[in-house]
Amino acid sequence: MNTAPLQGIKVIDFTEVQSGPSCTQMLAWLGADVIKIERPGVGDATRKELQFDPNLPSYYFLQLNSDKKSISLDAKTPDGKAILTKLIQGADMFIENLHPGAMDKLGFSWDVVHKLNPKCIYGTIKGFPVSSKYKDLKAYEPIAQVTAAAASTTGWYEGEYDIPTQSGAALGDSNTGMHLLIGLLAALQQRNKTGEGCFVYQSMHNACLNLCRIKTRDQLTLEKIGYLSQFPQYPDGKFGDCVPRSGNIEGGGVLGWTYKCKPAGDLDSAIDANNYVYIILQRGEKEFKLACQGFGFEDWLTNPDFATADARDKHKQEIYQRIGAWTADKTKFEITEILSKYGVPVGPVLSTKEVMSDQSLYDGNTLVKINQGGEIGEFVTVGCPFTMSNYQPAYGPCPSLGGNTDEVLKSLGYTDDQIASFAKNGTTAPLPEAK
Ligand SMILES: CC(C)(COP(=O)(O)OP(=O)(O)OC[C@H]1O[C@@H](n2cnc3c(N)ncnc32)[C@H](O)[C@@H]1OP(=O)(O)O)[C@@H](O)C(=O)NCCC(=O)NCCS
Repeated sequence: MNTAPLQGIKVIDFTEVQSGPSCTQMLAWLGADVIKIERPGVGDATRKELQFDPNLPSYYFLQLNSDKKSISLDAKTPDGKAILTKLIQGADMFIENLHPGAMDKLGFSWDVVHKLNPKCIYGTIKGFPVSSKYKDLKAYEPIAQVTAAAASTTGWYEGEYDIPTQSGAALGDSNTGMHLLIGLLAALQQRNKTGEGCFVYQSMHNACLNLCRIKTRDQLTLEKIGYLSQFPQYPDGKFGDCVPRSGNIEGGGVLGWTYKCKPAGDLDSAIDANNYVYIILQRGEKEFKLACQGFGFEDWLTNPDFATADARDKHKQEIYQRIGAWTADKTKFEITEILSKYGVPVGPVLSTKEVMSDQSLYDGNTLVKINQGGEIGEFVTVGCPFTMSNYQPAYGPCPSLGGNTDEVLKSLGYTDDQIASFAKNGTTAPLPEAK
């Protein structure tokens, strides 16, 4: 049994860069028929962004556009508008992430699309919610992170590196795509009941802020009591009126930190930036006792500075130092093995190379290899992040720019002559440059 959940669902994908394409790739992996609209001769900006070879699509594009079809279409020409209208009339979803106002200018706002096809669900991504004073701003990843209090609370909290810092994870981009996906799947389920499509608006701001709930929790707590016991600044440092940057604290009430280890391989520790392990001391008595056994620090059990979780919060610097001395002569893998036997939450800090060479992740389809063919051949990407007991995506290649134009136009009933004229008048192929 391998029935695709979205089999038969037609998606017109007017998205580019990362936020929108990450969403439509998931729709494609779930079995929807996704037709990506790309500007003739230009295509999705990521095709030519950070290329490893100037003649080939970048890994950026390849990571986000698997299993889609591509049609070259200039939606500004009269023919382009007519073709897009036909596509929308046969679609279950129309999804876009152009800059604010661009879709209205092109003539395909929600109102228009809803009239063209009342069953069609309209998904849109913008930087900010419509109520925001920033609603008209263009947005990329860092704009979402800095405006959603993610960057102001991330990074080091003292010294020369005390500056707002971005997460390496795409909280503003792919995370927004996944949030939109939730809205679209809900809208699809709603349509099953009402017969009518709705407008799903997803801002990067809201998606990013939705992942910052522990920071809004901290702000409320800070305003009530003036300090945050889980932060390194507690008990001796000063707190201001907003949540500070948190360094490597765990985020909840448990005491976590990143500790330097012995180099795991041949690398000199001075050049190996990832010889670290993350270790958490839980608050419960039983868990703490086991952790002390794992470290060989049983004296902590009877020392009033460490015996209770509240006392440990006040002496976290001494804890960091002692555990740091314990980890210094062991590798991150040895430490993970030792402490996990005592039920201590622990994990090695892994580099991209270490993650991407972990065979077990390929065995479970966390990472998948897609055969793109041609000069690219096989490339690695992150697979569908959840598994289903009765369905597994096929993970097909990414389309070439406009690679499905003729096929899609024929399916709309256009004749060969019409298709040829669209290519000549700039609708589906770039016009020759004026000499
Ligand atoms: C990403 C972003 C900053 C890029 O802005 P941009 O450089 O202005 O690029 P856009 O693709 O939005 O639009 C450029 C132009 O191309 C046009 N265009 C794009 N695809 C087209 C097509 N197939 N046919 C005709 N015109 C097209 C747009 O209509 C727009 O025209 P206009 O400037 O006359 O209005 C902006 O799209 C944005 O803020 N999007 C919303 C948030 C988002 O998703 N950000 C990306 C996160 S990964």
